[in-house]
Amino acid sequence: MNRVVGKIEVPEDEVKLWWPNGYGEQNLYDVTILIFVNGETLKSETIQVGFRTVELIQDYVDPNDILRGRHFYFKVNGVPIFLKGSNWIPVSSFPARNFTSRMEFLLESAREIGMNALRVSGIGRFEAEEFYRMADQKGILLWHDLMFACALYPIDRHFLASVKREITTHITRIKNHPSILVWSGNNENELAIRQRWWDIGSYPMSQQIKDYITLYKEIIKPLVARLDNSRPFLLSSPSNGVQTEA
Ligand SMILES: *[C@@H]1O[C@H](CO)[C@@H](O)[C@H](O)[C@H]1NC(C)=O
Repeated sequence: MNRVVGKIEVPEDEVKLWWPNGYGEQNLYDVTILIFVNGETLKSETIQVGFRTVELIQDYVDPNDILRGRHFYFKVNGVPIFLKGSNWIPVSSFPARNFTSRMEFLLESAREIGMNALRVSGIGRFEAEEFYRMADQKGILLWHDLMFACALYPIDRHFLASVKREITTHITRIKNHPSILVWSGNNENELAIRQRWWDIGSYPMSQQIKDYITLYKEIIKPLVARLDNSRPFLLSSPSNGVQTEA
């Protein structure tokens, strides 16, 4: 059996970068992976990729006066991006039905009015492949929550096994999409604990905080870093980044 496993080096000046809406073109390339066995193609798979970098800038505004706080903005291909966007929740609670044209209409509407970002909220779900393909093609950056929202989550062994399986499955499935800008651990769970939404005698605040840190900082954050270190990770939406973590 021939095993051809390699890395393709493409000179930078031969690659057209992928840009968000309003900053340039959404250049995409097909990558085809073929698996041969004894000269026969066993499997062939083509994915679309775009070349771009993402950075989240969180430097101190003034290193000599840290009380002035930090910056919080993204650079794509080294260019600071003014994110203009909205919140994305599932088009329907019945994903098995065909909502392709509705999805296309909504994403195209976002593009036409000059948005360049949507936040896939943790109150929804990981979307189907077509959603990410459309976002790539339209230059819509995705601030992508993981699917935890407005609740306290357990950290027992069985639940954690399910969390790991879910995150691994979905990040592996969709991480090739240049539209995805950042992963965020959850929707509002941190804010909720901070604002004491749940004043439960049998589950004191100190334990809520401890379990929160275990789940998002000690388990999910390193898991996401292992699966995809090409984009930033935030513990929660909303977030003040490193300030929040501290
Ligand atoms: C879903 O609908 C679109 C048109 O809106 C059509 O092009 C596509 O083939 C449909 N997909 C399936 C799986 O039926």
